[in-house]
This record gives sequence, structure tokens and C-alpha cells, in this order.
Amino acid sequence: MAKKGRLDFMKMKQAGEKLTWVTAYDYPIAHFAEQAGIDMILVGDSLGMVVYGYDSTIPVTMEECLIHCRAVRRGAPNTFVIGDMPFLSYQVSIPDAIRNAGRFLKEASVDAVKLEGGRRVLEQIRGIVDAGILAIGHIGLTPQSSGQLGGFKAQGRTAASAEELIKDALSIEEAGAFALLLEAVPPELSSAITEMLDIPVYGIGAGPDTDGQLLINGDMLGYFEAFTPKFVKKYANLAQVITDAFKEYVDEVHSGRFPGPEHSYSVLKDELEAFNAVVEQYKKSH
Ligand code: KIV
Repeated sequence: MAKKGRLDFMKMKQAGEKLTWVTAYDYPIAHFAEQAGIDMILVGDSLGMVVYGYDSTIPVTMEECLIHCRAVRRGAPNTFVIGDMPFLSYQVSIPDAIRNAGRFLKEASVDAVKLEGGRRVLEQIRGIVDAGILAIGHIGLTPQSSGQLGGFKAQGRTAASAEELIKDALSIEEAGAFALLLEAVPPELSSAITEMLDIPVYGIGAGPDTDGQLLINGDMLGYFEAFTPKFVKKYANLAQVITDAFKEYVDEVHSGRFPGPEHSYSVLKDELEAFNAVVEQYKKSH
């Protein structure tokens, strides 16, 4: 299948066709996502929590993001891949934001970058877009500023908070972002923003009316166990599958059932005599 891009995503919005989006951090998951026909992959800075076991996304570095983006690119060469800009890779200055966004493209061949925040990162979005890079905004629950938000909490549940998010969404579109991601907001708000904006609006925990859905693969595949947000649907329980497989392996090794003859190599037939002679000779002297 041909790789989809920005214009395809616009057409999908106009046609009312929902887009599917998941996170991936490595080659195999990216490969499976592409095989399954997922439209877009986010190499989220959630990798800090899902892959590295940090208790937030704050420690994640550019280098870590780039390593995982490269692996995902190799696993899904025909899928639109978005690199997530980690904490402090874009907040400090506009040149910094442009340089780091550019690194995702130059060093990991991703198609676009995502950054968290509304009006307060508008100049960064403008700068990145002016440099010719596709950028997607991310508002609502923004994990990098969860401290300021009072934790991993839903946003936009009051009139005042909803108004702030609407202003952010309109500004992000005006700044040139090609799409917007809404996280953990009431469906009534995401539905209104999706209608207001010409660019596609995607949701994670934002109800059914956005132009597409995102889920974190560790959540939906059931292998990230630290916590599960309300909006997650588990499509598999890999934690159970993997733990059961490891337990069975432990049992079989302890009981001698693994490895069996079918897992062992044989000595080459015309080498058997010489082979046995060498082994016997060494056994005698040791
Ligand atoms: O890092 C990530 O996976 C994200 C999602 C939570 C939207 O930014």
C-alpha cells in the first residue's frame, strides 16, 4: 500500500473517514502496525514510561527519541511516522525547536514532529513549519506539564478550561500545524473543535467524534501495567501471554523438557568418527 501523507489525511477528514494511529517504539511493533493497516505511528515520548520504566516523560532525551524513531522507521517504511519532541527540546528557544525538529527528519527519517502545548509554543510551531517541517499540536492533557495540570487529569471539563483549549486549537491551526491531537477532554469539546478546524483533529481519550483515534500500544496491547487510563480499551493481554510463556520456559528447562532433539544440531555424518575420537581424547585427559 502507498504511504499516506498530509493531503490524504485532509481528504480523509473531508470524507468523514476515520484515521487510526498508535504509538510504536521498536521495529517489530512498527512492522505489525504497518501490516495491520494503521495509518500513522507516533514514536511517543511515552517510551520513557513504557520502555524505560521512568515514572514520567520528563527524563526522555532527544537521543532516546531518535534511536526509537530509527527502529520504527525501519519497521514501518511505508507508514507516516511522527517523532514526539521530548521535554526541553523545544521550550527553551525557537532556534532550538527548529534544530531539534530537523534532527528527527535528518537523523531518523520521520515524516513529522509533535509538540505539546497551545499558545505558549505557537512561535515554536510557526518556526518549525516555516522551516518546511510538518508539525502536529497536542493539547488537553499534556504529560510533559502534568505537574502544572495537577497530575494525569482530564482537561476542558469547565467552561473556562474549554475556552482556553478552543483558543489554543484555533491558534495552532493558524500557526500552520497540519493536524491537532486532543488528549483526555470531554467528547462535546472535541466534537466542537473537530468541526471548527479545517485541519484534522485526532483524539486520545477525547470521544468518538474526532477525525481519528490514537492509543498507546503498551496500553491497548496490555503490557504496560503501571496504570491504565479510563479511555483505554485493551485489545490484548500481552502481559499475561508473555509471563505465561516465560513460566512455561522455566518449567521446561527445570524438568528437562526443553531443549528437545528437535532443537539440537547433529554432527555432520562423514565427520562422526573423527569427531568422536577428538571428544574421547579430551574427555580422557580432563
Ligand atoms: O508520548 C505519547 O505517546 C503521547 C501520547 C500520550 C499522546 O504524547
